[in-house]
Amino acid sequence: MELLLTKIEKIFKDNIKKIFGEEFSENAGIQYSTRNEFGDFQTNFAMMNAKKMGKKPKEIAAEIIEKFEPNDIIEKMEIAGQGFINIFIKDSKITEEIRKVGEEKYDFPVDVSKKVIIDYSSPNIAKRMHIGHLRSTIIGDSLKRIMRYIGFEVLGDNHIGDWGTQFGKLIVGYNKWINEEEYKKNPIGELERIYVKFSEESKKNPELEDIAREELRKVQTGDERNISLWKDFIDSSLKEYDKVYKKLNIEFDLYNGESFYNDLMPGILELLKEKQIAVSDNDALVVFFDEEDNLPPCIVQKKDGSFLYSTSDLASVKYRKDKLNVDNVIYVVDERQRDHFKQVFKIAEMMGKPYDYEKHHVSFGIMRFEDGIILSSRKGNVIHLFNLLEEAKSEARKIIEEKNPSLPEREKEKISEVVGIGAIKYFDLSQNRTSPILFSWDKVLNFEGNTSPYLQYTYARIMSIFRKIKENDIEYNIDYSIIAETLNENERELATALLKLPYWIIKAYEGYKPNLIADYLFETAKIFNSFYASEPILKETDKEKFNTRLMLAEKTAFVIKEGLSLLGIEVVERM
Ligand code: ARG
Repeated sequence: MELLLTKIEKIFKDNIKKIFGEEFSENAGIQYSTRNEFGDFQTNFAMMNAKKMGKKPKEIAAEIIEKFEPNDIIEKMEIAGQGFINIFIKDSKITEEIRKVGEEKYDFPVDVSKKVIIDYSSPNIAKRMHIGHLRSTIIGDSLKRIMRYIGFEVLGDNHIGDWGTQFGKLIVGYNKWINEEEYKKNPIGELERIYVKFSEESKKNPELEDIAREELRKVQTGDERNISLWKDFIDSSLKEYDKVYKKLNIEFDLYNGESFYNDLMPGILELLKEKQIAVSDNDALVVFFDEEDNLPPCIVQKKDGSFLYSTSDLASVKYRKDKLNVDNVIYVVDERQRDHFKQVFKIAEMMGKPYDYEKHHVSFGIMRFEDGIILSSRKGNVIHLFNLLEEAKSEARKIIEEKNPSLPEREKEKISEVVGIGAIKYFDLSQNRTSPILFSWDKVLNFEGNTSPYLQYTYARIMSIFRKIKENDIEYNIDYSIIAETLNENERELATALLKLPYWIIKAYEGYKPNLIADYLFETAKIFNSFYASEPILKETDKEKFNTRLMLAEKTAFVIKEGLSLLGIEVVERM
């Protein structure tokens, strides 16, 4: 279905073309009105073009309204303020559009010809995923769902940190302190322990750092034993991550980690040298930037010949174009890596065509806990993601036990899972992406505020209306072709809100801001709940009103379910 906003814009442009000519119709834009009394849509066309036309805005607005061709969508137009035009839509058109919601796919006015990669999650091997990785995983997944929904071809790529200095340290730790039995039982926990131990011990014995460097060199030059240890560390880490991804219902199309690009490193260095982008500096290979770029130099190869994090990112820039033919890569990585991505993007730009394609660093703030602990795995005081998810589930379970103790055990389990995981995801996605966030269970699992339990609860409430109709054999036939000619204020407010889902999906995509969908869903659920409080459905005896309201309830459920699915959150039939 075409968006109502798009339809109105087309009609408006056609009329402008007829009245004032082609040159004026191009930027004749329409917006949603900010307040009900301003109609459904608004345009500031008259003000924007007053100078060019040499007329007063109010005169232009009056002329438009006078000469506008009658159509079966617009009820009336009014001049407001300095020359705004307020546009009111016919109730019959609103209900006609509402009927299509959930029946027809949205027709998004977006050019979806670009192929996109979203690079997200990307934890570092041999450390258990902690809550600091949560935001990248959840935001990246939601952006992938949103862009796919709009119609883009999107690949999700987990650029895992499976190469680098930590492996030298891990091998030293493994050789010195590993508890074989523990390692078999809980490999990643044991790797974590020896990693922390290495940090402590190397403070006392700095020569451990040299041994670690030597072990790392052996991995890089193909030493059999070290290579097999390295592979083992990766395997056991991936298994652990998988548990978390499964719980979160998150999948990737590619797992091209840093080491995937090893063979491509010499090639990228050749290219950088050939184009004189990188120069030799104290035996290292370095890219210097123009002063105006305000960026520190970027080392792409160290003195000892080894590569860096930025080198593998540059190799991936090349690979993703050469082999995957992408047009846009979105890196969902926390704000501390801002300079890193600025450097990589700048170097890609210097590499020129075809590597100067579109890239975005979609950064986000750090998540903190109320007691102020910043989550870092080096200190060992992490709250592990898996445990956090388990805890969310058991917190949700407590609430379910309280609200609905008679549900069958299996259903309680399922609901707790969906509500708990949903609450965590929503807590993250509903916030302004770039702000730091403070985690608190009260905010996460609140059934009243802007939370997923509130939205899921609203959905379940609507499902219960339909259950009651079935159970009580309510007499009316559900028939959405028998609906009211006109809508009352509450019905109309809900109906127009329901039509805005695709608009907010586009806004969320344009700004990489899933929180816009969350805000929209929260507003819409509130509108539904106050509509439901004042407009009876099951007790309504008028057939037309009954069907109109039931249809609005059903479409509200659709909008909540569809919107939540773009945030990677499920719904339940009751809770
Ligand atoms: N592994 C990195 C980290 O945990 C994030 C990688 C992000 N993606 C990228 N292409 N650099 O800090």
